[in-house]
Amino acid sequence: MAPLFLDCKFVVVAALIVGLYASQAWSRELHELSMQERHEQWMARHGRVYEDDAEKARRLTVFKNNVEFIESFNEDGAKPYKLGVNGFTDMTNEEFMASRNGYRKSSSARSSGAKSFLYENATAVPSTMDWRQKGAVTPIKDQGQCGCCWAFSAVAATEGINQLTTGKLVSLSEQELVDCDTKGEDQGCEGGLMDDAFEFIVNSHGLTTEANYPYEGVDGTCNARKEASPAAKIIGHEDVPANSESALLKAVANQPVSVAIDAGGSAFQFYSGGVFAGDCGTDLDHGVTAVGYGTSDDGTKYWLVKNSWGTGWGENGYIRMKRDIDAEEGLCGIAMQASYPTAQMV
Ligand SMILES: *[C@@H]1O[C@H](CO)[C@@H](O)[C@H](O)[C@H]1NC(C)=O
Repeated sequence: MAPLFLDCKFVVVAALIVGLYASQAWSRELHELSMQERHEQWMARHGRVYEDDAEKARRLTVFKNNVEFIESFNEDGAKPYKLGVNGFTDMTNEEFMASRNGYRKSSSARSSGAKSFLYENATAVPSTMDWRQKGAVTPIKDQGQCGCCWAFSAVAATEGINQLTTGKLVSLSEQELVDCDTKGEDQGCEGGLMDDAFEFIVNSHGLTTEANYPYEGVDGTCNARKEASPAAKIIGHEDVPANSESALLKAVANQPVSVAIDAGGSAFQFYSGGVFAGDCGTDLDHGVTAVGYGTSDDGTKYWLVKNSWGTGWGENGYIRMKRDIDAEEGLCGIAMQASYPTAQMV
């Protein structure tokens, strides 16, 4: 009896192995098929059209790699934030960075001369702040495939201080900066610096509205007529003392602040929600705007950051980034090159 029993067991095990192998191959095939279907559905959803079948096949491979990266990231329950399939899922991280960022890290000393910090002695620092709720933040915008994040960041900070001084929230023109501002490092879709943009706005006596000079997403010729009707003015700009999240806190408690960050990683590309905690370095390549701060339900302190990649990215276009980390530069270097425009109180 015993040998027969063993034989039976062997047969069962062998059948199981064969079955398992077949089902693995089958599920792999299903996976490939469904990935193709998912890519088709994704293309329809995002209105993506490729020039030929070869390009489509290449994009499918990138899409598949990205989806697998996103899914395996999310399966790791230890991660405090989630990734998601978004409009950038058919782009490699290199392509994405090349087309979307555009902060030209300030290599020279930042704005020379006496460094004053308006909020040095600020004592009114509430435990949470959300400038959206105070009506100082315009809806999320989308820079498209133009590396002018610096313009979106400077405009969002200018829209903020303009609302705080005049009581009116006016959407302002990034395209005016892209077309007309050649100050310092500023080179339209090829990149720029928020400080140089502020300097341009001071010197050109203001910035016109988004409605008057709408966003095109490509470099253009400066339209002097449109430029001649400014809707918001600033009188100067200041840098937040570098590498101090507590200084940044004092500034963001008082107005939306332009910040430069290292947004180069795939996790940033596909961030979909939660408090982002890295990985990221401090190789500043992207300009965004800190529009608040707070503490999440699980007690994690965060910066509330407005991005310019449309509402399909992150938390309806925003990201919460971990605040008060061990490194003085802040997460992704957020405390390294923060700055804000100043305006005359009216
Ligand atoms: C902060 O307080 C010090 C000491 O009173 C003063 O010298 C400095 O000018 C103040 N800074 C600002 C920006 O008001």
